[in-house]
Amino acid sequence: MNERSNTVDNGYPPSLIRYLVGNRRVFYRGVAMALLRSAVIAPIPWLFQVIIDVYVEASHLPGIAYISVIIVGMLLLHYAFAVLGAILISRQNGLMMMRLRGGIFNKLHFLNFGYLDRQKTGRLLSKYAFDTQKIEAITMQMMNQFLPTILYSFSLSVILVMLHWQLSLVLVLMIPLYAVLRNIFFKRMKQINRETRLAQEKLTGAAGEAISALRLVRSFGEEEQVTQNLDEYSYTLARSRFNLANISAIYSTFVYVMIQGFALITVAGGAYYVIQGSMTMGTLLAFMAGLPIILMPVHAFAGMIEQYFVAQEGYRSVKELLDSEYVEEWHGRTPLPDLKGDIRFQHVTFAYPETLRNVFTDFTLDIEGGKHTALVGPSGAGKSTIAQLILGLYKPDRGDVLIDGVSQSELDMRGLRRQAAVVLQDIILFSGTIAENIRFARPDASDEDIREAARMANAEEFIVRLADGFDTIVGERGVMLSGGQRQRLSIARAVLRNPRILILDEATSALDYESERLVQDAIRRVSSGRTVITIAHRLSTIRQADRIIVMKEGAVLEEGRYDELVARGGFFQDLLKMQLTEA
Ligand SMILES: Nc1ncnc2c1ncn2[C@@H]1O[C@H](COP(=O)(O)OP(=O)(O)O)[C@@H](O)[C@H]1O
Ligand SMILES: [Mg+2]
Repeated sequence: MNERSNTVDNGYPPSLIRYLVGNRRVFYRGVAMALLRSAVIAPIPWLFQVIIDVYVEASHLPGIAYISVIIVGMLLLHYAFAVLGAILISRQNGLMMMRLRGGIFNKLHFLNFGYLDRQKTGRLLSKYAFDTQKIEAITMQMMNQFLPTILYSFSLSVILVMLHWQLSLVLVLMIPLYAVLRNIFFKRMKQINRETRLAQEKLTGAAGEAISALRLVRSFGEEEQVTQNLDEYSYTLARSRFNLANISAIYSTFVYVMIQGFALITVAGGAYYVIQGSMTMGTLLAFMAGLPIILMPVHAFAGMIEQYFVAQEGYRSVKELLDSEYVEEWHGRTPLPDLKGDIRFQHVTFAYPETLRNVFTDFTLDIEGGKHTALVGPSGAGKSTIAQLILGLYKPDRGDVLIDGVSQSELDMRGLRRQAAVVLQDIILFSGTIAENIRFARPDASDEDIREAARMANAEEFIVRLADGFDTIVGERGVMLSGGQRQRLSIARAVLRNPRILILDEATSALDYESERLVQDAIRRVSSGRTVITIAHRLSTIRQADRIIVMKEGAVLEEGRYDELVARGGFFQDLLKMQLTEA
């Protein structure tokens, strides 16, 4: 991963316009094509004037045919340039968007979890998928429609000024008046667009959550509650879209009236100059033919402005993420190529961001490398938090976590994580085959490596019984597999990595006793010679640990081997008794 993306200055300019111009290649190509296609047809109204004033006057038919052929030639050229331009720009534009999306995802990889925990998946997805699309739509339209019309209108204005500067001047002076009136609309549109975007993010966020909770909601029979909740968000979005449509409709009517006003001035003013004798009928015709073209940018603008604000809002939203300062930037660069796996929590005080209560206060703990350490204790004790802190997913508020004696703030944590493996309680499977899911831990692993890892994890026997064996597709969340099968799959994934530090967070919690025994077996087999940290709720699963740490409310109560703890008759034995009566 490159270094630059780890900093807050991500190299994207502050505004949409500057972003578009900043992508020089797209912009220059767009301008060049627009210039060519506009310049080619700009003289057409002037040729009309020549037809009327020269050849009609002289009743010279071949001349009229000659000029017509020239005009047809110009139109063909214009068409060729327009098509070529569209192709070039759309290709460039596609690449530009790819880069932007890449930038967004890259940023996600660097943001700290304190920030990410507070973001809804749907909201981030909306930035990634919809906001970039909005920007894409406008860049295409700007380069391919708006820019050419501006140039077209400008070159035509030059020709009209040469034909009759007084009437041109009148028309040109009208434009600032129009611009002032327009501004009033724009302010309001911008504001409504912002509301719309926020409403959309909220809605996709809530909908995303509701969709992933469908099973839960139906099981509880609480569909009504969820629907009502979504309807509220949906209504907010509908209302802001309705406001937007309203203002847009009022605005386009305003534009229409303005354009008719311009037409009236041209006809009336032109008629006056013709009567006065300073203008020919041909010139008046050229003005009439040219007027719609001069006003084309105004037209195009009216069509584009709503989209522009939508895109600007999209860009702002994307920028918000790209500029986010919540970057995991407190790590260093020191590599640890030969990780031993000694872990030391040194006077660590830690609270999850935006929460009040400390999970740990002045917490000190040594975990010896190469040994199997078990963390037990009631839920909420902070066991999973220890795992997250070891991986450096959160920064301690005070104190330090040392790996092999080196502070995390000096370590290259990505390099470290690549030598570790975690099996989480909530197992995440990617959509793809079983083999692909295991291979995630080591992309260059051979099929035989994968088989071996599955064997170690006691997963092979169930995999080969599946219809397609290792090529069986597992769904988005592996719904076809049982909890125990998924856990063994995820252990296989961890085994394949051959990690120096293996963390198993309640990795056997979803298992029945038989599969638990299989997984236990697997864990024992892969444990030797590594630092293994098992977090377990069920105490039966940690008999073999070299050391058991009993935790409660962020503190270590007792520690020792299984028999020692039982013999001591403290909290561990209480826990044990409770579980025996439960079972
Ligand atoms: N992402 C989070 N954001 C805020 N608080 C959290 C988060 N994860 C855990 N906590 C809180 O931190 C405390 C310790 O949680 P955890 O380490 O998951 O406990 P355990 O794994 O021992 O059950 C709990 O009080 C829990 O509510
Ligand atoms: Mg936990």
